[in-house]
Amino acid sequence: MRTDGLGGAVGLTHLLLRTVVIPGDVVVDATCGNGFDTLFLARLVGEQGRVWAFDIQPEAIRSAGERLDVAGCLSRVKLVNAGHERLGDYLEEKVRAVVFNLGYLPGVPDGEVTCADSTLAALDRASELLLPGGVITVALYTGHPGGAEEAAMVEEWAACLPPRGFNSWKSRQLNRSQLAPYVIVVERQPSSKRGADRGSGCESA
Ligand SMILES: C[S@@+](CC[C@H](N)C(=O)[O-])C[C@H]1O[C@@H](n2cnc3c(N)ncnc32)[C@H](O)[C@@H]1O
Repeated sequence: MRTDGLGGAVGLTHLLLRTVVIPGDVVVDATCGNGFDTLFLARLVGEQGRVWAFDIQPEAIRSAGERLDVAGCLSRVKLVNAGHERLGDYLEEKVRAVVFNLGYLPGVPDGEVTCADSTLAALDRASELLLPGGVITVALYTGHPGGAEEAAMVEEWAACLPPRGFNSWKSRQLNRSQLAPYVIVVERQPSSKRGADRGSGCESA
């Protein structure tokens, strides 16, 4: 398998997504931004697949639309100018992957930034929509105001997922500062049976 190198948190999530997402899949980019991740996903799902991409900033949706159009991938993407906490208002079908790249748009630190309450609401909904074997990837940033608190709450959310329904992972670079972005991955277990995901991993620890 060819990779573009790991580089950092986003590179690691892309490496994983390449192994999970196949042509024809339905996937979600929960933080569309300028559309780099959306375009990456659009290429993975191919012409028969569908990417749902959410962002609360109209400029982000516009910028992503232009990028997708130039790449010839716009027709396989639904761009939604709404918060990812409203995922459930738009999607009924199950999805192979939901991708979160938290924080603010690179170069726009005074723009809209993700926040814990809406991120956690979206993660809850994403975990319900995941196909068996599907993944949620989260790239987390702690260097901006509120980032560390959001990251801690996402970690707590992932740590409390029931171990019989989900695999929950954290990965960070050892030769970087503690402020460097890192990754949380949640997989809905391929063999999970109906009801197996009831109850909390924290309660049964
Ligand atoms: C780090 S950027 C995403 C970068 C993007 N994936 C890319 O490839 O350019 C985070 C984005 O999340 C968006 N955002 C903040 N709160 C959001 C919410 N509740 N729902 C959806 N997007 C949100 C911001 O507007 C910002 O564009």
